[in-house]
This record gives sequence, C-alpha cells and structure tokens, in this order.
Amino acid sequence: MGASYQPLDPHNQKPSSKKPLSFLSKPVCAWLACGFISLALLHLLCCSPAGTQRTAFSPLLQYINNTYSFVSSVPPGGDESCNYSEGRWVWSPGYARRYNATECNVKESHDCLRNGRPDTGYLDWRWQPAGGCSLPAFDARAFLTAMRGKHIAFIGDSMARNQAQSLVCLLSAAFPNRLLYRDADPRKYNFWRYAFPTHDVKVSFYWNPFIVKATGKSEDESIRENHVHLDTPGDGWGADADTIDVAVLGASHWLLNGAIYYNGSEVIGAHNAPAELNYTGVGYAWPLKMAYRTAVERLSSSRPRTVVLATFSPAHFEGRPSDSPTACTKMEPYEEGEKELDWICKELRDIVYDEAQAAKVRIAGASATRIEVLDVTKMAAMRPDGHPSVYMHRDPFAHGVPERMYSDCLHSCLPGPVDTFNEMLLQILRKRR
Ligand SMILES: *[C@@H]1O[C@H](CO)[C@@H](O)[C@H](O)[C@H]1NC(C)=O
Ligand SMILES: *[C@@H]1O[C@H](CO)[C@@H](O)[C@H](O)[C@H]1NC(C)=O
Ligand SMILES: *[C@@H]1O[C@H](CO)[C@@H](O)[C@H](O)[C@H]1NC(C)=O
Ligand SMILES: *[C@@H]1O[C@H](CO)[C@@H](O)[C@H](O)[C@H]1NC(C)=O
Ligand SMILES: *[C@@H]1O[C@H](CO)[C@@H](O)[C@H](O)[C@H]1NC(C)=O
Repeated sequence: MGASYQPLDPHNQKPSSKKPLSFLSKPVCAWLACGFISLALLHLLCCSPAGTQRTAFSPLLQYINNTYSFVSSVPPGGDESCNYSEGRWVWSPGYARRYNATECNVKESHDCLRNGRPDTGYLDWRWQPAGGCSLPAFDARAFLTAMRGKHIAFIGDSMARNQAQSLVCLLSAAFPNRLLYRDADPRKYNFWRYAFPTHDVKVSFYWNPFIVKATGKSEDESIRENHVHLDTPGDGWGADADTIDVAVLGASHWLLNGAIYYNGSEVIGAHNAPAELNYTGVGYAWPLKMAYRTAVERLSSSRPRTVVLATFSPAHFEGRPSDSPTACTKMEPYEEGEKELDWICKELRDIVYDEAQAAKVRIAGASATRIEVLDVTKMAAMRPDGHPSVYMHRDPFAHGVPERMYSDCLHSCLPGPVDTFNEMLLQILRKRR
C-alpha cells in the first residue's frame, strides 16, 4: 500500500542476542505487589510530560485519501477458529514499522523514534499464533469498512489509551483523520475523538482507569486516594454510552494499586487503604469484576453492539526501581519458555474471561450486545523490549547518563507491540456475530 511508512533502516540486522544492559529476571508481574513500584507506576500512568500541541491533520496522508480503497483488494481474512491469544513473536524485518507516530499526534512519551531510541529491532517482530493459523497484518481499509458508520470507544487506563492511539495511527497512515475534540490541556490525552470521514467512523478515548466513576487521584494527581463508585459508569462514557457501537474496556493497573470503593454513598470496602480507616479489605479481583459488570450493564441494549474486554498487559520493571535508567533495557522479545506468566497475570486474565462469560450468561436473550475478550496478556508479557524505557524522554542521554531517570516499562512504543493488539481487535470485530 502506498501509504506504508518507510522503514528507517531497510537493511536492518537481526540484533545480537547478548545485550550488555539486559538483566535476567524471573517474574513478569510480581513487581506489582511492591508499594514503591506502584507509586512509580502511578506516576507513569497519569503524568503527561509537557508536550507541544501538534496539528491534528496529517497533510502528508491527505493525498492518499480513498485511492487506497481501489488499489487494495479484499484483504486476507482471519481464520475464525484461530485463537490468537497464545503464540510467539517471530523475527520479521520491518513488519512493525507501520506509521510515523509524530504524524498521528501520539503522546510524546510514546514516540520512541522521535525521542531518539537508537535500536529499532523492536519493530522487526510479528505475532505468530499457536496452532498454525496466522494473524493478518493490520488493514486500515478492512477495519474502516467493517466499522462503517460506527463509533469505537476505548474506555480505561493508560494502556487502553496506548491501544487507542495505536489504532488512530494505523488508520491515519492510510486515510485522512479529523480531530473532533481533545482535552483543553494540550499535555493531556485523556478525552479525545477522531473521525475518519471517508467511512464515517469515530474513535474515542475516555480516561476511566477504574472503568466506573472515580474521583480523587485519577482526576487530580495531588490527591492520594481514589474514591471509586462501583455502581456508576464513568461520567464521560456513561453519558455517551448510547452513541457507542464498539466499546473496548481495559483496566487492571489502578485496581492493583487500590482505592476506596463505594456502592451509592456507602463505603463497601477498600484495597491498600490506610489500616487506621478500618475499611474491609476487598482486594482487586472483586472490584474489577464489579466495574466490568456495571459497564456491561450500561452498554447492554437491544441495539447491536460489541463490548470487548481487554486482558491485563503487564509491565517489565522486573523488580527494579522505575527511576533507574536501566529499569527495562532488553532489546528482544522473550523466547518461548524463557519466561512464564506468573500467577498475578494469569489471575487478572482469568478474571476477564470469567466476567465475560458471566456477562454473556446474564444478558443472553435480553440484549443484542456481543461480548468478546481481547486477550493480549501473553503477547504483551513476551515483549520487554517494546517499552519506551528512558526514551519516554527526548534524547535522554543528551547530557550524559543520569543516575536517576524514569523509565516507562509499561506502555508500548508507537509504533510497537501494541499495534498487534489492534490486529487482533480487527479479527474479533470482523467475526460473524
Ligand atoms: C478525497 O477523495 C474525494 C473523492 O474521491 C475528493 O472529493 C476529496 O477532495 C479528496 N480529499 C482529499 C483531501 O484529497
Ligand atoms: C484461547 O486461549 C486462551 C489461553 O490459552 C484460553 O484461556 C481461551 O479459553 C482460548 N479461547 C478460546 C475461544 O478457546
Ligand atoms: C516523522 O514525521 C516527522 C514530521 O513530518 C518528521 O520530522 C520525522 O523525521 C519523521 N520520523 C521518522 C522516524 O520518519
Ligand atoms: C449495591 O447495592 C445494591 C442495593 O442494595 C445491590 O443490589 C448491589 O448488588 C450493590 N452493588 C455492589 C457492587 O455491591
Ligand atoms: C478503627 O478501629 C479502632 C479500633 O477498634 C478504633 O480505635 C478507631 O477509632 C477506628 N477508626 C476509625 C476511623 O473508625
């Protein structure tokens, strides 16, 4: 396709597997239990490094317009029986060099190439599902055609935003976009909506790290606690729910960190709250289920609609402090067998499957809402190399190597592994109902 982003280095070499800065480490997710890491994670989850506002239009891409629709024939369809959630990353030079993130206005801290990340081998991998089937490359025309006239809303935390921005970039690389609105504060990327006028498709992001209504830290970082109303949809998406055709829900990280939970005006428990408050401990699993339950209920209707529950996407701080410049420095995916998913990843993933199953049973017959699971846990867990790391900052070593510097070992570089989440999402959305 004419719009494809030119590889930076067409002669890219397979990186050698020995890296001076890489560390061996065992658990993929156990770091989440550590308080100090959690605080650092929250910093990453909510802080927007100062950024300049960029134009929402991609002039370079305008001329491509819908000529692409004629050039491209019917894209290879996915295999409906394929389970994309298990598999491995295979080396495929240039495969993931899908777009220029500066052109699609991503958060600067995810624009690794712009920020000077020198190694680009993380863009040379393709997801190979287990069982011999394949995951087709993202096809913007197929996506927009399947979604013609529809509103796709991502609702959740900063990983949901990462995926939403990836989708906007993947689509904008082939079709013109139009920014409909965004946060008043240009450093924030919490509420925005793009239109793709050629197909009358809209893509929105709603910052709701607990999915349901929350006040406190999620709105204002200087506040310590989160107050979360498990019975109430988040304000923004709750108000727009009737306009949403496809909702992609992604939350877990903030529930692990904790909150004080309410039903109506009554506190029903808390997780990680100060002990002297005497709240009943409710952990993170139950509130996560309740949040999904409230969301699915709000989104259930007699009108056809798809609700996609995304599973947990783990970080790779691997027990190191996130203000260390070497918190995540691996330059290749894990090999099969090199790293097992640990229990917390599995538990969080199972919660999503269980809740999706429960929701299907609950709404069966009463609603035209389709419930799907977007299981990205394994593909994300295998990619310690795909995070911005210190390249969340622009030219981080311009003044030498600092002793302390935040590393982002949670989100994905854009372009990067998170684009594959959208390849999987496309196959889910194209499935026959
Ligand atoms: C896109 O194509 C349409 C119809 O082919 C044309 O009317 C329109 O001007 C084009 N837009 C741009 C930005 O080139
Ligand atoms: C796909 O694989 C995952 C992980 O093994 C499993 O939990 C899930 O049930 C499978 N999905 C289907 C539809 O078989
Ligand atoms: C991306 O686009 C910007 C603005 O058009 C350009 O300055 C930059 O060099 C491009 N980056 C890459 C990696 O091609
Ligand atoms: C909240 O209270 C209502 C009314 O008592 C009850 O039906 C519901 O199950 C409660 N929800 C949660 C999440 O505890
Ligand atoms: C918590 O319980 C302790 C011991 O029962 C009591 O002294 C204290 O006042 C309680 N704190 C709150 C905020 O209710």
